[in-house]
Amino acid sequence: MRAIAVVGSSNIDMVTYTSQIPDSGETVIGKSFSTNFGGKGANQASMASRFNATVYMVTGVGSDIFGDQIIENMKLAGINIEHLQKFSESTGVAPIWVDETGANRIIVVPGASNLLTAKDAVTAIQTIKDLGVVVGQLEILEEVTLAAFKAAKKLGLITILNPAPAKELSKELLENTDWLIPNAIEFQAISKSEPNEASMSDFAKKHGVGLVVTLGESGAALIDRSGKYFKIESEKVPVVDTTGAGDCFVGTFAAGLNEGLRPEIATKLGVVCATTSVTRKGAQISYPDKVTVTKYLNSLAF
Ligand code: RIB
Repeated sequence: MRAIAVVGSSNIDMVTYTSQIPDSGETVIGKSFSTNFGGKGANQASMASRFNATVYMVTGVGSDIFGDQIIENMKLAGINIEHLQKFSESTGVAPIWVDETGANRIIVVPGASNLLTAKDAVTAIQTIKDLGVVVGQLEILEEVTLAAFKAAKKLGLITILNPAPAKELSKELLENTDWLIPNAIEFQAISKSEPNEASMSDFAKKHGVGLVVTLGESGAALIDRSGKYFKIESEKVPVVDTTGAGDCFVGTFAAGLNEGLRPEIATKLGVVCATTSVTRKGAQISYPDKVTVTKYLNSLAF
């Protein structure tokens, strides 16, 4: 089994559950609060680590108590932190509001995640032994993700980009991306069109990428590298908190491809894991454990 490297952010999530989202100048009373391990990169690494591969997290944390807690959490999860750097800037944090429908509003303050350099990322990609897949997002500096992907493509590795938070993607980043995984809102922001078979096919063909759009309770849609379209439905479940569900999908998809699954099967597995995650509070703490993941894996039709 080859290794997976996730280049991205590690945050501490500060989550308020509330039935009412305040308007400007308004104060409301929330229902509950918790601090959890988060960050799109760290969430994806956490999910991928529940499969068989060794997962490396390439990230920056602060020299503060949050940084120490993140390191401890990754060690417990069995994530390799040889390429995690400690900086003097504070650790990234994410104040999050979750409403009664499980929908969230997130502000990310990247802090130390933004001090990771292109050189750090390239060194990691070139040094990690037997690497197969490199995963990136847009919560760290884009030049760092781009440098990691360029180094990965030179080595013939699979690159997966989760373009979140959404912004216009450079031609160079797309050229070095094998799989692009936005959610529906991000796909719309990037392509200026609603996700459907025609718009997804056009986008995938134009940019030469495999494309998976995650669709929340409607599952996910996929255009594979040969241009074939698949729609994967999700089971209907009571939604408690959608925070990190997209990351759960991306980490699972990356691990699935790394295990040699066909993309449509990796997508199916991603939808199953992400569906489980929305029934529980938090990001990483809501993800299915190793035993459950193995059960899901074994139950899929290959
Ligand atoms: O995708 C969810 C994640 O976004 C949260 O864990 C938060 O830290 C932000 O990075």
